[in-house]
Amino acid sequence: MGILQELSARFRPDKVKLQLNDIQALILRSRPEPYVGIHSMIHVDEAAGGRDLLRRLADHIPAASGWTDELDSWTGVAISYDGLKALGLPETSLESFPLAFQQGMAARAEQLRDFGENAPETWEDPYRPGTCHIALTIYARDDDALDDVLAKAEAELEKSTGITLIGTHRFGADEDAKNPFGFRDSISQPLVDGSGVDPLPGQERAIAPGEFILGENSETGSPLAMPQPAPLGRNGSYTVLRKYQSRVGAFNDFLREQSADEGEQDYIAAKMFGRWQSGAPLPLAPDRDDPELGADSRRNNDFSYEDDHRGLVCPHAAHMRRLNPRDSQLTILSDVNIHRIIRRSSTYGPKWSRDVTSESDAQEDRGLFFIFISARAFDTIEFLQQEWINRGNFVDLGEERDPIVGLHQTPGTFTIPETPVRRKIDGVTTFNRLRGGEYMFMPSLTALRWIGDGAWDEGASP
Ligand code: HEM
Repeated sequence: MGILQELSARFRPDKVKLQLNDIQALILRSRPEPYVGIHSMIHVDEAAGGRDLLRRLADHIPAASGWTDELDSWTGVAISYDGLKALGLPETSLESFPLAFQQGMAARAEQLRDFGENAPETWEDPYRPGTCHIALTIYARDDDALDDVLAKAEAELEKSTGITLIGTHRFGADEDAKNPFGFRDSISQPLVDGSGVDPLPGQERAIAPGEFILGENSETGSPLAMPQPAPLGRNGSYTVLRKYQSRVGAFNDFLREQSADEGEQDYIAAKMFGRWQSGAPLPLAPDRDDPELGADSRRNNDFSYEDDHRGLVCPHAAHMRRLNPRDSQLTILSDVNIHRIIRRSSTYGPKWSRDVTSESDAQEDRGLFFIFISARAFDTIEFLQQEWINRGNFVDLGEERDPIVGLHQTPGTFTIPETPVRRKIDGVTTFNRLRGGEYMFMPSLTALRWIGDGAWDEGASP
């Protein structure tokens, strides 16, 4: 069963408590498998032109109520703070957004630990501070469907004035949904309470909807602060976009240096991610990959760390365990449920192969747009970057960093608990280099029209 069919089989319309018809589909609708798509970045030169684009766009953004709709393509839209300013939003609204969002991702480099080769000064042009105002993501069933929708989008853009298309980037992955390192991803996702979707085995308890949808009750029992006025904030969310270039060759070379054979390379890579390439998680497949398990959404996330306190099966340092420690005993306590994120990442560039070496890293552009959605997205990413990615104290690992996404200004280590003694592997480098990013607001459909119409501005021509 395809991922969307699987999702619609779990959808119970009578259990819906959210206003799905006002929430962008992309927030709750999974990526298809296989998937193709494009990210487009737009700069607003003149408010009226930008608002006109949003007004026309609003009719083409599907709502989350259409879980079961078979769509050839669908589009999501997000706007940066500088974008909202360029669109002419009133000061009272602009001030009601979180401070980190107002400052933008580049200005938060300190909090995000984006230093050295990840520093904003090194980013690609569309991500220079204040440049990317509107980001459009189009997903499509296949290349033909994508070409179709792109032709229509281009025609719309040609009709527009006062906006500039500053960058586009195609992405996609085959049916096995493998990322640049050859690993299936986007497996573990939080369940949003009130979305009407029944949980998958192992999906843990449903998370309060206000963690993802503005205006709803959060895990604290009340809604988080929301942009004002209500038609602008309600049913919206925030998204974090970080474009990574993957150094798959350096990663492969590192594994080769540490291993006697290919089996050992796969073992170390699985320990670093927490899953085997197929997606089979170490807690359920400790010794070898199990592709059938990896592809089975009813089994591949049905585990906890209850029987693995020492990390002998899945190391505490593994990417997956760091970013969602589930029931692990943490040295520095934290409420795991307020750091859950809906991931909507997309892979670009040539497929993974064991033969890729460091020399090819400079020639072949491959990587991942790491994108996630959360109503407290900026607090979450800054917490994750500081505590769970670029440090190890929370699991007694001192300064050891995430082996996949940590920034390693000097080569780091990766610890695999083994008996009788743990194995420490040296030579971990920055396998994913940051090429840019931005903090964005994902408006509801009402908010898109509100902005498009310039509803606050008596003089605006609708
Ligand atoms: C290029 C960069 C990245 C790669 C290649 C990558 C890869 C993966 C893979 C293979 C998994 C396991 C399968 C799954 O559940 O999806 C995973 C899980 C996850 N990753 Fe990443 N990831 C990247 C960046 C990030 C970043 C920057 C964050 C957070 C700031 C993050 C957060 C997570 C989370 C929360 C999970 C799920 C953990 C769970 O619930 O068990 N990832 N990632």
